[in-house]
Amino acid sequence: MKICIVHGSPRKGNTYKATNFFKEQLQKNGSIAFREFFLPKDLPHFCVGCYACIMKSEEYCPHHLYIGPIIQAMKEADGLIFTSPVYVLAETGGMKAMLDHCAYIFLSHRPIEEMFSKVGMVISTTAGAGTGHVIKTISRNLRFWGVKKIHSCGFAMYAKEWEEMRTTKQEKLEKILRKKADRFYHDLQRREKLPTSLFTKVIFGMMRGMCKGYPEDQTDKMYWESKGWLQGKCKPF
Ligand SMILES: Cc1cc2nc3c(=O)[nH]c(=O)nc-3n(C[C@H](O)[C@H](O)[C@H](O)COP(=O)(O)O)c2cc1C
Repeated sequence: MKICIVHGSPRKGNTYKATNFFKEQLQKNGSIAFREFFLPKDLPHFCVGCYACIMKSEEYCPHHLYIGPIIQAMKEADGLIFTSPVYVLAETGGMKAMLDHCAYIFLSHRPIEEMFSKVGMVISTTAGAGTGHVIKTISRNLRFWGVKKIHSCGFAMYAKEWEEMRTTKQEKLEKILRKKADRFYHDLQRREKLPTSLFTKVIFGMMRGMCKGYPEDQTDKMYWESKGWLQGKCKPF
């Protein structure tokens, strides 16, 4: 089984420790190959808003050299994990920049069909508050990529470092992570059989209708046409 992890921070801190514990638990269930990216090192640019990915092709993105391998690894993986500490009640800038570079794979543009059978996981830690905001933003993006099922896990540590937490609190978090990892793994195993969400079905249907009305040489329309999604009732899920 393959899992792609995108770390929203380069720090080997609380979020990394929680993610590592989660990974260890997953590996107890079966053999897993992890492909990991660390932001901002692996994508050290903001989206410049040039629209090249949307209007022409993702290969025209000025940062294709960086975002290309991340998208490719996500395509090849069975599961996706996104991690981010809370920075000013939101995800890190690196994570937001990565999500911005993925605008063209939204259901409203050129969704990647492999996403329709993937399971996602979002892990976030905070000193006190804000994991809900991080999880909401990242999950919303995954939903708009067509990811089939999205899990999440947010921890308020009330401490700066993992080791500063009381032992009982550490054990409680580990217990939660163990349970979440087992559920995530269970869904990974049966991902092909999981039902497609109503959200994906509705947005896909709406976009199919819109695409049909676009000019023949419009990039998104040519993509949907090439996938056969504009013909009859052909669906990728
Ligand atoms: C720039 C910055 C902004 C932060 N903003 C918040 C915040 O808004 N609310 C909060 O409770 N903790 C905040 N924190 C604390 C971190 O979310 C918390 O310590 C987290 O567990 C750090 O994860 P890490 O060790 O993986 O970097 C902030 C930390 C930094 C560095």
